[in-house]
Amino acid sequence: MTPGVPPDAGGEHEDEWNEVVRARFAPAAEHFAERARELAPQIGERAARLLAPLRGDERALDAGTGAGALALGLSPLVGEVVGCDIVPELLVEARTLAAGLANVSFSEGDIFALPFEDASFDVVGTIRTLHHLDRPEQALAELIRVAKPNGRLLIIDQLAPLDHQRARDMDRFERVRDASHARTLSDPEMRELFAANGLVVLRQEIEATERELEAFLDSAGCEGEQRERTRRLAPGPTFTVELGWYALERRV
Ligand SMILES: C[S@@+](CC[C@H](N)C(=O)[O-])C[C@H]1O[C@@H](n2cnc3c(N)ncnc32)[C@H](O)[C@@H]1O
Repeated sequence: MTPGVPPDAGGEHEDEWNEVVRARFAPAAEHFAERARELAPQIGERAARLLAPLRGDERALDAGTGAGALALGLSPLVGEVVGCDIVPELLVEARTLAAGLANVSFSEGDIFALPFEDASFDVVGTIRTLHHLDRPEQALAELIRVAKPNGRLLIIDQLAPLDHQRARDMDRFERVRDASHARTLSDPEMRELFAANGLVVLRQEIEATERELEAFLDSAGCEGEQRERTRRLAPGPTFTVELGWYALERRV
């Protein structure tokens, strides 16, 4: 398989792609734990605003939890949170961060085949995961499967620029930096995907973040020739990325 080019079929190819994801994230588990610790409170604040009203007794899922950033952010807002991911090293960090929180647990699970019953969660979320998936539409269908009718989804991911050429350039840059990057969707593509799956957008926010190129390369362990190549493709020494936050309702 060509590094950075996700396969478009399931089965063996999907296993290969999951290996690419594990090779990327297992060595970065401590970095993701630091980020999760730092970001969980602000993720929780924004999630509370977007998902309001919450009763406080909901069962929530964070799929592609990493070191648990969204799961930890949701834990004070709901009755129970389960986080799942395919990288055991990240789950070890997530469990350490959640030590002492009685309502949070983590288990290994693939977003394409979630190990949960149909309609078993009131809130189903995923943050910064879709752009690592070769078939985001299939993952979304799986997230919808485990959401209760009238349950809410919280889909959060980096957005592609609206200009097609800039979007392609950005994906190329991201893939050279990180072989597990598949493709970012733009806001209209996200909305189209949600509409095609019968999801209604309840609220939406777009969060702009400034990125420092060198720190961004460090965070993916991008060194040597790969670092030089990525620098040549970078939009600049600093650049802005947008994170789309979508609170959705499953109406079917
Ligand atoms: C950029 S990280 C984000 C982690 C975490 N959600 C956060 O925001 O800190 C992408 C995550 O997606 C996970 N991931 C990628 N493919 C997956 C799959 N097929 N099933 C479950 N998780 C997956 C990775 O293991 C990784 O934890």
